[in-house]
Amino acid sequence: MYCIHTGRVVIVGAGLAAQYAALSLAPRPVLMISPAPLGQGTSSAWAQGGVAAAMDPADSASAHARDTVQAGAGTVDAQVAQAVADEARTHILDLTELGILFDRTPEGGYVMSREAAHSFARVVRVRGDQAGAEIMRALSAQVREAAHIQVLEGVMATNLEIANGTVCGVVLVHCTNGMSAPCLIRGAAVLLAGGGSGGLYALTTNPPRVRGQVIGMAARAGAVIADAEFVQFHPTAIACGLDPAPLATEALRGEGAILINRHGIRFMQEAHPDAELAPRDIVARAVFAQTQAGLAPALDTRTALGARLLRDFPAVAAACHQSGLNPLVTPIPVAAAAHYHMGGIATDAAGHTSLEGLWACGEVASTGLHGANRLASNGLLEALVYGRRAAVDMNAVLGPIPKQQAGVTLPDLPPGTAPRSDLVNRLRQTMTHGAGVIRTAQGLQNTLTEIATIEADQPDCTALANMTATATLIATAALNRRESRGAHFRSDHPECDGATGTRSFLTLTEARSAAPLETT
Ligand code: SIN
Repeated sequence: MYCIHTGRVVIVGAGLAAQYAALSLAPRPVLMISPAPLGQGTSSAWAQGGVAAAMDPADSASAHARDTVQAGAGTVDAQVAQAVADEARTHILDLTELGILFDRTPEGGYVMSREAAHSFARVVRVRGDQAGAEIMRALSAQVREAAHIQVLEGVMATNLEIANGTVCGVVLVHCTNGMSAPCLIRGAAVLLAGGGSGGLYALTTNPPRVRGQVIGMAARAGAVIADAEFVQFHPTAIACGLDPAPLATEALRGEGAILINRHGIRFMQEAHPDAELAPRDIVARAVFAQTQAGLAPALDTRTALGARLLRDFPAVAAACHQSGLNPLVTPIPVAAAAHYHMGGIATDAAGHTSLEGLWACGEVASTGLHGANRLASNGLLEALVYGRRAAVDMNAVLGPIPKQQAGVTLPDLPPGTAPRSDLVNRLRQTMTHGAGVIRTAQGLQNTLTEIATIEADQPDCTALANMTATATLIATAALNRRESRGAHFRSDHPECDGATGTRSFLTLTEARSAAPLETT
C-alpha cells in the first residue's frame, strides 16, 4: 500500500469538534480529513437548536448540570456534567470573540431558546435555527486561513494503523466518485472527530455520509465503545419522504408549537406533565406510537408562531417549502428519526481513548455527559469542550512542536471497493426495524443475524465493515441491557432497573463473541 509519513496530527472528521480541536492545536501542524468540502456534510452544520449554556444571570451552571443528569435517566456522570456546564460560558464568549453573531437582546444579552427538559431558556442561538450553519461557516473560514492546518477534502479514513501498541496513522480512500484503493498516512497522533451513527437507520436527520464509520473503525482496531445502545430519536423529523429527513427544531415546541394527530387531538398532554417539552425520548416514543397507529402525528406551529416561523426558523421554512408543505396553513407531518448517538468511543476527561495514541471528541466519543438521553443542545457544547480538551492533552503528550511540515499530497489511486448500496439499504432497514425506537430481544437477535449476513455478502469492503461493526455494537449492547432506560426502550423489559444505572462498555470482540441468549 502507498504510504506517506508526516509529522502532522491527523484529525479524522471536519465538524465542530474537529475544527475547534484543529484550531486549538495551533501551532502544531494538523492534517484534517474531510469527506465533503470543508464546512459541508457534517451534523454540526445541520444543528438547528444551538449551544446550551447558562448565560442568563438568573440561570446557573449547576442548574444546567442538574438538568443534564436528570434527562440522562440515571447514567450521566455527574462530575462530567458539572465540569462541562461550568466551561460552557467560556466557549460561548470565545465563539463570540471569533465573530459568531449569536442573537442578542437590545440590552446586549444573549437571546436564549427554550428546549425540552431544560428548566430554563438556556440555548444560545443564531438567527433562530441557524446556529450550526453559522458556527461552521465562521470556523471553516478560520480553518482555511490557519497556516498550521492542511485540509484534505473528498477523502475518508477506513482503518487505524497501529505499531508497537500505539495508533500511528490512518488508511484513507478517495470517496468523491466511488471509492479508491487505500493509502496509508502515518502521523504524530490521531484524533477521531468523525460524527455519529444516525445514518445507520433508514429514517434519520443526519447527513448522508454519517453512518457510524468512525466508531466502527476504532472498534475494529480494539477501542472500547461505551453506551452503544443509547441512540437518540428526534421526535420531529419532517415526514416528507426525504432521506435524510429535515429537522423541525425542538425550539419550535419551546415557542409553543404543539403536537397533534390526524384527529386534531393533542396527544402529549396525557403522556407527560411537561407535554411537548417532556424529555426527548418520551416525546419520540409518543410520536412513534402515533405513527405506528396510523394517526399521522404533526407539529402545529400555526397559533404559536404563525408567519413568524418564516422569519425566525428559516431552515424549517425552507425544508417545508422544498417538500411542498405550507406550515402557515397545515401542521407539519413528523416522525421519530435517528438523530444522535449518545454512545461512542469511550474517552476520559481529556478525550483520550483506550488505545495509546488515539483521542476522540464530538459525537463519535462517549464521555459520560449524555447518559441514556442527551439534553437538547448539549451536543455542540460537548464538541467544544472536548475538542479543546483533546487538543490541550495532545499538545501536552506530544511535546515540542515539530518544525513546519510540508503539505501531504495524495497520489492518484486506482478504484477500490465501495459498499454495495443494496447492502447499506438492508443494513439501515434492519437497524430501524430491530434496533429502533422500540426494541425486543427477538428483534435485536434478528437484526444481529441480518448484520452478519450483510457483512458476509461483501467481506472485502472495509467501509461496509466499519458500518456493520457499529451496528453490531448497538444491537448487542441493546440486547445486553434488559431494561428500558432513556432512549433505549425494550417492550419486553419495559421497566427501568432503578433510578440509577450503569454505563455499558464493550469491545467489538466481546460483542461478537458474547451475544447473549435471552431467557425471559
Ligand atoms: C433541535 O434543534 O431540536 C435539535 C437540537 C439538538 O439535537 O441538540
